[in-house]
Amino acid sequence: MASFDFLVLGSGIAGLSFALKVAPHGRVAIITKKRSADSNTNWAQGGIAAVTSKEDSFEAHVQDTLIAGAGLCREAVVRTIIEEGPERIHELIALGMKFSEREVNGTRELDLGKEGGHSKRRILHAKDMTGREIEAALLQAVASQPNIVMLENHFAIDLVTTRKLGRAGDDRCVGVYVLDAKTGEVEAYSAPSVVLATGGCGKVYLYTTNPDIATGDGVAMAYRAGAAIANMEFIQFHPTCLFDRRAKSFLISEAVRGEGARLLGPNKGPFMDRYDPRLELAPRDVVARAIDSEMKRTGADHVWLDITHKPARFIIDRFPMIYETCLRYGYDMTKDPIPVVPAAHYQCGGVQTSVDGETNLPGLYAIGEVSCTGLHGANRLASNSLLEGLVCAHRAAEKILGSPGSKELPAIPAWQSGKASDADEMVVVSHNWEEIRRLMWDYVGIVRTNKRLQRAATRIANLQEEIQEYYWDFKVTTDLLELRNIATAAELIVTCALQRPESRGLHCNLDWPDADAAWSQRDSLVRRGLA
Ligand code: SIN
Repeated sequence: MASFDFLVLGSGIAGLSFALKVAPHGRVAIITKKRSADSNTNWAQGGIAAVTSKEDSFEAHVQDTLIAGAGLCREAVVRTIIEEGPERIHELIALGMKFSEREVNGTRELDLGKEGGHSKRRILHAKDMTGREIEAALLQAVASQPNIVMLENHFAIDLVTTRKLGRAGDDRCVGVYVLDAKTGEVEAYSAPSVVLATGGCGKVYLYTTNPDIATGDGVAMAYRAGAAIANMEFIQFHPTCLFDRRAKSFLISEAVRGEGARLLGPNKGPFMDRYDPRLELAPRDVVARAIDSEMKRTGADHVWLDITHKPARFIIDRFPMIYETCLRYGYDMTKDPIPVVPAAHYQCGGVQTSVDGETNLPGLYAIGEVSCTGLHGANRLASNSLLEGLVCAHRAAEKILGSPGSKELPAIPAWQSGKASDADEMVVVSHNWEEIRRLMWDYVGIVRTNKRLQRAATRIANLQEEIQEYYWDFKVTTDLLELRNIATAAELIVTCALQRPESRGLHCNLDWPDADAAWSQRDSLVRRGLA
């Protein structure tokens, strides 16, 4: 058994920021299932929303967040995260992060972008590669910290709690079993504080803007360990993913619409004016539903995004990565509209936490996309997520460092593989994986009905039985573990969706088309063992 002072699962903005904050106070292990830079953060194009300009105000950012969140945000949490944002951004800049700047009257200032639902320009960005630059700056800082051990290709299987170890008294998280994907060995890691920073679950859906790692591992592990999970029905579909079978999951940043791009229907005519007066810059739930409705109405398999009215030089300079990638697939965005479709993008619910990352299970914390703090409510405002990761990592570190000294930890027994033998039926894993992703897309997508949700619940329960059998019979592999986790994440989404008898924000149910005031400020909640 390996012991540390802090175990961090995940290596995106939240996990790395947390590790850097606590490293001066103890030994930290960052457990990450692929390479350290493989995270949702690394893929973030748009940027970080924060109040840094004189024309902006905390109040305006708070109001924009509350409006997008459709009555479900926790206002105190929203205020805390927004007001603490600028200080955390300065720390990031001090670490070496370089945001794009522009020249105004002979002085350099931050070049602020605009995205849907924001009333002001407030998105700090590094051209269209913000996440990549942030990840690089944080990883560089982590590499110079002798107290941090980075364990790449290590897959967290399950959290270890005192209840699971048969201990009497209040339950507590004391560690995690981890599969070393290179050797196939499973080892126990223990620590008084275990921090989930594992990101979201976009891969639960057939079409997603997320990288392959986004398989809901954290939310699934937390649920199995007894943590409360909230609001998983609120899956954000990004309106503009490149529609081209060769381009897996390629996002066309909302910042492109922020700079004036228009959405066009199959006949190349604009349509957003028929859906919302805010047009292309309405909050994402509105724009994604409008596109979905246009596609269903016309039978088209995509719509178009057109920014050709802007000078080519501007487009290439502001969006170099998007421009180059589109060009590789044969689309010159300076000359022609780009084909786009909505795709699963962000998990607004997750492990229920305080703004300091505390879960209901002592010893277990959750920060970033895996958590549900109350910032996003029923629909996340664009670019608020990197901000949340940064602020909540700092707050969780302060909370843990300010808490009374660590408890003595029990020994964790070695992993039992039971009657495991080598997996020889990989076709079962790949079949179930495809089936879950397709049924989630077809039955639990942008627009839902009770019947489809119930159908999905039944199918997922059957698949889970099969996966569980497989899990006990064979040696664990990363594919099998990810399949088990996406099945659990799918179950959580459907269970939460069935709890909510209304449509609100990202959750649109044709059988309950209106919002119900009784469900404003009311979370859907799932906890193992509770009905
Ligand atoms: C984007 O660039 O459109 C994504 C930003 C976000 O999801 O916050």
